[in-house]
Amino acid sequence: MSVPGPTDPRAVVRAVQWSDDTLVLLDQTLLPAREEHVACTDVDSVVDSVQRLVVRGAPALGAVGAYGVAVAMLQAEREDWGDDRLRREILRIRDARPTAINLAWGVDRVTPLVPAGVTAVLTEAHAIVGEDQAANRELSRRGADWILDRVERRPVRVLTHCNTGDLATTGWGTALGIIRELHDRGQVEMVYADETRPLLQGARLTAWECARQGIPCRVQADGAAASTILRGLVDVAIIGADRIARNGDTANKIGSVGIALACHAAGIPFVVAAPSSTVDMATPDGSHIEIELRDGAEVTTYAGARVAPEGADGFNPAFDVTPARYISAVISECAVVEPDGVAPVGALVGERS
Ligand code: MRU
Repeated sequence: MSVPGPTDPRAVVRAVQWSDDTLVLLDQTLLPAREEHVACTDVDSVVDSVQRLVVRGAPALGAVGAYGVAVAMLQAEREDWGDDRLRREILRIRDARPTAINLAWGVDRVTPLVPAGVTAVLTEAHAIVGEDQAANRELSRRGADWILDRVERRPVRVLTHCNTGDLATTGWGTALGIIRELHDRGQVEMVYADETRPLLQGARLTAWECARQGIPCRVQADGAAASTILRGLVDVAIIGADRIARNGDTANKIGSVGIALACHAAGIPFVVAAPSSTVDMATPDGSHIEIELRDGAEVTTYAGARVAPEGADGFNPAFDVTPARYISAVISECAVVEPDGVAPVGALVGERS
């Protein structure tokens, strides 16, 4: 499907849109080579798009969860489903990927409005998008301030992992949002973007976003990250999050915990940036976070061709958990929490102690 896209390369890229009773997703599996869209008008296409990573990134998945309920309701009307079937189909969307809490959060936020009708659900889904964009801008300002207060070297050299920008959110970004804010203040010397094996969100998506925004960026193999940090080439690492537990333990793209350990060894800050929708106060600690195990073929193949010998199985956890003690700061739109400090994680969702 082709949707008129922005002609200005610096314009915001919309990963998730609602148009003509259709959930329209920029197909991130094709970037940066092609900008094409997938139109979702039924639950199968929503679930398939989430599982194939046509759309990905925790905050973007939150919006997809909410709009997905509207897609299911419109399909229910067309196909005359009863309430039970509609409930089951909504659950299929909710469970399409397990680690990012935002997907279930988005579904759960609009589900109480289902009896009120699709317009009520869509109004709430649009509100989620507006709130996410505002949250990203606010946490980016907080994050940039926090980093510039602690990092002496100017401009800063940043390492990031996976993709956390326009493409992973409903606009602007979280970790990449902080980098954009720092760049707008003239304070970014270099971004080291881990390629993010096996699906290359860093090499394909983060590097694409940085290029569009004129942010200097080097793509490095994931295996280079610890060495780049220990060689003193990085002042701060900033990553996003798929779920933050009540004790501050944080699930994010596989490879994140290794970066945290290297930052700890090098004595530089390791910062987690996420909107409050990613904080799951119902999960006590990281050991309770379900880690998505994806098809081993994603690691035994490269660019579609098998590289591991027949008989070698792939092991492909999509996320890892960084213990709170290795995190210097978790930053949301509501607060900056330093897990060693006094502010409790609840401050990230606006709770007052
Ligand atoms: O598998 P993905 O691409 O959905 O993983 C995405 C990440 O791990 C991101 O870092 C996270 O969702 C935060 S996006 C702002």
